[in-house]
This record gives sequence, C-alpha cells and structure tokens, in this order.
Amino acid sequence: MKLIPIAFCTLFLLAGCGQSSSPTAAANDGVQKLLAGLPESDSDAAKIFVRRCNICHLRPQPTAFDAATWPKVIGLMKRNMANLGVPLPPAQDEAIILDYLRRNARPPEARQQGGQG
Ligand code: HEC
Repeated sequence: MKLIPIAFCTLFLLAGCGQSSSPTAAANDGVQKLLAGLPESDSDAAKIFVRRCNICHLRPQPTAFDAATWPKVIGLMKRNMANLGVPLPPAQDEAIILDYLRRNARPPEARQQGGQG
C-alpha cells in the first residue's frame, strides 16, 4: 500500500502543479521533449506510448527489457492503472504500445549460449 501515495506524488510532479495557464501548450512541449530521446520518435506509436506510459512515472526506454519481458510489464502496469484509477488504454493502443516496445526492446540475454554455464 506504500506505493499508492508515492505514485500520486509523481503524478502531481509530472503535471507541473498548477504553474501554467496554458496546460495544453505546456503538455505538447513536454511530449516533444519526451519523444526526442526515443526510437521512432516521429511515429504515432511513440506518441501513444508517451501519452499512456508517462503518467505515473517518466516513460521508460524500450531497451529497459527484452521483447519476451515487455508483455509481463504491461500486465503489471495495467494492474497499477486499475489500482490507481488511471484509465486503461483501449486494446488497440495497448497492442500498438506493446509492438513498439518489443520492436525496440533490448536484445535477449545471451545466457543460453554458453552451454554448461
Ligand atoms: C497508473 C500508474 C502507472 C501507469 C499509467 C504506468 N505505470 Fe509503470 N509503474 C507504475 C508504478 C507504481 C511502478 C513501480 C512499481 C511496479 O513496478 O509496479 C511502475 C514501474 C514501471 C517500470 C519499472 C519496472 C521494473 O521492474 O523496473 C516500467 C518499465 C514501467 N513501469 C513501464 C510502464 C509502461 C510501459 C507503461 C505504459 C503502458 C506504464 N509503465 C504506465 C505505475 C504506472
């Protein structure tokens, strides 16, 4: 239960706490910066990813996990969203995000290659 207040604090921090009279312009500017460090930064997929995955925390890098692990992380995040009252992405957006993350994911660990390790 400790996570919930922490996540809410992050949420308010990211929202910039009432400093701007033009939240939409500020949000667009922020999205541009968040996109800049990502693969396929001009794509709709990257934009949907930032919109959905930069709410409670900074959007992760797709290279944070390998392609096999991302579906599990998305599953955990959907639970976080349900717990914290953040609307879940529509199925179509979820599929786009997952494809995007898996396409750009970290290569799988080379663990099995060594034989008897
Ligand atoms: C409702 C709030 C919320 C949203 C929206 C959200 N997350 Fe998270 N995320 C969390 C919380 C809370 C944690 C830390 C605890 C945990 O791992 O569940 C976290 C942690 C993470 C981590 C670190 C996990 C680890 O084991 O290091 C990754 C990666 C991540 N989120 C990816 C995403 C992606 C991708 C999306 C978009 C689909 C997303 N998050 C959307 C709440 C959220």
